[in-house]
Amino acid sequence: MTPGKGFSKLRTVRRLSPNVPFASIIPPASSNNCKQTRTGSIRRVCGGALEDTVSLTPIGEPRHKITTATLREKKFHHEPITCLTAYDYATARLVDEAGIDIALVGDSLAMTMLGYENTLSVTVDEMLHHVKAVRRGVKDALLIADMPYGSYQVDPGVAILNATRFVKEGGAEAVKMEGGEKRAEVIRRVIEAEIPVAGHIGLTPQSVNVMGGYKVQGKTLNAIEQLMRDAVALDRAGVCCIYLEGIPREVAAMIMAEVETPTIGIGAGPDCDGQVLVFHDLVNLTFGHAAKFVRRYGDAAGLITQSLLAFKADVISHQFPNDAESYHLPKETQAALETVLHRKQAMQR
Ligand code: KIV
Repeated sequence: MTPGKGFSKLRTVRRLSPNVPFASIIPPASSNNCKQTRTGSIRRVCGGALEDTVSLTPIGEPRHKITTATLREKKFHHEPITCLTAYDYATARLVDEAGIDIALVGDSLAMTMLGYENTLSVTVDEMLHHVKAVRRGVKDALLIADMPYGSYQVDPGVAILNATRFVKEGGAEAVKMEGGEKRAEVIRRVIEAEIPVAGHIGLTPQSVNVMGGYKVQGKTLNAIEQLMRDAVALDRAGVCCIYLEGIPREVAAMIMAEVETPTIGIGAGPDCDGQVLVFHDLVNLTFGHAAKFVRRYGDAAGLITQSLLAFKADVISHQFPNDAESYHLPKETQAALETVLHRKQAMQR
């Protein structure tokens, strides 16, 4: 790869020299001019005036809410960011309670949950149905909703309206859009409408027909140059994070060196600021061949199948339900019932 003219032009102007950490110019909470309030928020004395870092957390309820700011902080402190897809209340509870940073309602649900062949046919309304369910299950994780194919490509106004639905109706805290340079303008417009946007470049599944299949991207010099342009365009547009999917780890590392936005990899090697996997891949619920980058941490399909077969066998052999699994009449009702039945029998004789 020749990092020639194109690349040097792309290089962003660093806001601070890498040798000057932000922490050294921002007084820590423990310094003289800061006071911790009862709510846990920081009250900072600035130029004689009191300024509150506003906290919406109710008193006495400590939370570890992940926000888009947390992602930047994690990157700054070199703490890896964790992300998993969540598609319904149950998976959202599990992801959130495991302390995963981001619950992503990915449009991969088109395949994993709805059985479509690819992600192209899922609609905003279908996505919203799932986002609302995930919202009810997620407490601390940052909730990002995928904008489905066709909901943001046509017109920035339509994109803003659709993104707004994910926030207002679905309770999403950010939306995700696929594409780099060519999406920078619409992404900027959505961010201007106060909606954080996550970028997604590399192997973008909504481009499956253009790519001619799910193929690793960024394998030629031209493709690398385009990926670098895409990453820088998203960085400049102000996205809250960039998902890097299906690219060589060497290219991911180059992008990392070029952008300040946190990167979250899936099939992009270990050098990203964070990693994401599809929930169903992680626990083996996908019914097929897994991609090279997938690590199966459990076998939910095996566990569920075993349970289903055991249930079927117990019903067939009359072992389910047993007496302990049945409801019983209260003692008084039982006694009264027996008296009634005796009387009936006596009358019949
Ligand atoms: O839809 C999805 O699950 C995604 C992740 C794989 C990043 O976009």
